[in-house]
Amino acid sequence: MAMTELPPTMRSLVAPTYCKPAGYEIQEVPTPTIQGPNDILIQVHAAGIMTADTLMALPIKLGIVASGVVIATGSAVTTLRPGDAVYGMAFGRPIDYGAPPGFCAEYALGRADLFLSKPAHVAFEDAAALLGNVLTAVQSIELGHRLLGEGGREQPAGQDGLRPRRPERDGLRRRPAAEDGLRRRARHRHRVHVQGAAPAAPRAVDRVIDYQRCAGRLADAVPPGSVDLAYNTQFAALRGAIPLLRRDAGVVVSIAGVPPPPLLCQLVGRPLPLLVRWMAGLAQWWYAFLLWGTGVRYAFVSGGAGRREDLERAGEIIARGKVRALANVVRLEDIGAVREACQMVYTGKGGVGQLVVKVV
Ligand SMILES: NC(=O)c1ccc[n+]([C@@H]2O[C@H](COP(=O)([O-])OP(=O)(O)OC[C@H]3O[C@@H](n4cnc5c(N)ncnc54)[C@H](OP(=O)(O)O)[C@@H]3O)[C@@H](O)[C@H]2O)c1
Repeated sequence: MAMTELPPTMRSLVAPTYCKPAGYEIQEVPTPTIQGPNDILIQVHAAGIMTADTLMALPIKLGIVASGVVIATGSAVTTLRPGDAVYGMAFGRPIDYGAPPGFCAEYALGRADLFLSKPAHVAFEDAAALLGNVLTAVQSIELGHRLLGEGGREQPAGQDGLRPRRPERDGLRRRPAAEDGLRRRARHRHRVHVQGAAPAAPRAVDRVIDYQRCAGRLADAVPPGSVDLAYNTQFAALRGAIPLLRRDAGVVVSIAGVPPPPLLCQLVGRPLPLLVRWMAGLAQWWYAFLLWGTGVRYAFVSGGAGRREDLERAGEIIARGKVRALANVVRLEDIGAVREACQMVYTGKGGVGQLVVKVV
């Protein structure tokens, strides 16, 4: 479709004010147009709604990950052409909050370097469900491997840290949500599993633990001191994971926590008020306190598409079918269903899988 044929306005999922998902609306807003030489304009087919979307305390056009078809490109874009099926993310680093992403809309303006060609065998919904989660997991697990290596530990086997090595059974009741419990605390010989995606191979998760059944007593299910690398995706889960880690050289990589002040400033691209930095610093003291007396190392990761090689690694994992999407799909026109599903994500009760809003 030529730019001139685009409608002047389009439907977009919007938080009209600082509100919970119950206040979200579908608004008619101006259709974006190419602004810079590296821009691409896509017709969105599907958008993933991440937890961060629902936590933004702003009037904002929602959606930071999407898949669709390129409609137009800026003058400097050589890698993508109109008609290409793509998927990508809204933000590099620093995060440009001045340009609300608005990927959950009929059209979205993105940066070519933050998009990948979508393999034909990956559905638009699946591409939108997978990218953010796989990218963050790749960056977290690779950092974890490096820290384990620095600590003199054998590094996890498997090309992506994803290959199962020894199937086990634990006798606990299996339920879908419980899979996350183990994924977050996977010992290196267990398969590490990405939130919002399920590995394609059977027996992908070696052992499943229902975190709700052993709440506060995870050490009854996983021997204390037996875990090399934990990938923590819940604020509340960090404390319970620490006793499971090897006291001499365990590593916990967290994506749910307070970023250290330098990272926080890097994320927003400017110095932050002293109070904010002080509070973020205080949180780091808390993490240090939790690890006190152990050799366990802690690192926080803010997954970002700005490092092209990481984005391409995530794309390769997706293209090769090493992860399978669990897309919880709702349609954009069904605002009731969109609000309800976003509310579940907001409360951390979205269940297993990634919320995807189907636009086309
Ligand atoms: N740093 C980054 O780059 C980055 C990237 C992506 C996400 N995140 C953050 O990571 C967090 C997770 O986001 P998400 O989208 O993956 O998932 P989510 O929607 O918050 O996760 C929901 C799932 O987690 C389970 N769960 C809740 N509490 C748990 C606990 N204490 N232990 C084990 N499992 C628990 C839930 O099970 P039940 O429903 O059975 O309770 C549900 O299956 C959010 O805080 C998000 O902001 C950070």
